[in-house]
Amino acid sequence: MLTFRPATETDVDALTALVESAYRGCSSQVGWTTEAHLLDGQRTNADGVRERLPLIVLGESGGELVVCFELELTDDNAQFGMFAVRPGTQGVGIGGQALAHAERIALERGARQVRLKVIAQRAELIAWYERRGYALTGETSPFPYGDERFGKPRRPDLVFATLSKALPVPA
Ligand SMILES: CC(C)(COP(=O)(O)OP(=O)(O)OC[C@H]1O[C@@H](n2cnc3c(N)ncnc32)[C@H](O)[C@@H]1OP(=O)(O)O)[C@@H](O)C(=O)NCCC(=O)NCCS
Repeated sequence: MLTFRPATETDVDALTALVESAYRGCSSQVGWTTEAHLLDGQRTNADGVRERLPLIVLGESGGELVVCFELELTDDNAQFGMFAVRPGTQGVGIGGQALAHAERIALERGARQVRLKVIAQRAELIAWYERRGYALTGETSPFPYGDERFGKPRRPDLVFATLSKALPVPA
C-alpha cells in the first residue's frame, strides 16, 4: 500500500539518500536499471534536493520512504524528474504506480502533456517509459560535462533524450 505526499524540509536527507542509492554506485546495482555504468560521482546532494523541494512528491509504504519524483508545471506542460525507487523494492510496480500518480497530479493541475529527459544510452529505461505510453520526441540536450554536481561521466558521448506523453483531455 503506497501513500503519496509532498516532501518537506525534514525529508531532505532521506530523499538525498534514496536518489543517490538508486542512480549511482554499488547500491544502485541491486535495482534493475541504474546509471552506475555511465556515471560516477553524485546524482544530487542535499542542496540540490532542497532547491527542488517544493516540486518533490514522495511515496511511503509501511511508513518507509520507497519512491520520489519531482513534477514542475509550466503552462500546459509537466516536467517529470528525480524519479527513484529504493533499489531493493524495484520491479514490483512501485515505479509504475508513482508515474501514474504524477500523471494524475499533472492532469488535475491542467497539464496537457508530461515530458521527461532520460540519458539516451539507457535503452531499457526508455523501453519502460514507452510501455507506459511515452514516445521519444527526437529532441536531445547536452549532458552537463564538467559540472561535477551532476556526476563524473564514464564516457564522452552522454546526451539526454526527451520523451513525452499526451494526457487525456478532460471531459
Ligand atoms: C526506473 C524506476 C523508477 C522504475 O521503478 P520500478 O519500481 O522498478 O518499476 P515497476 O516495478 O513499476 O516496473 C518494473 C518494470 O521493469 C521491468 N524489468 C524488471 N527487470 C528488468 C530488467 N532486468 N531489464 C529490463 N526490464 C526489467 C519489468 O518487466 C517491469 O516492466 P513492465 O511492468 O513494463 O513489464 C526504478 O528502476 C529506479 O528507481 N531506477 C533507478 C533510477 C532511475 O533510473 N530513475 C529514472 C530516471 S528517468
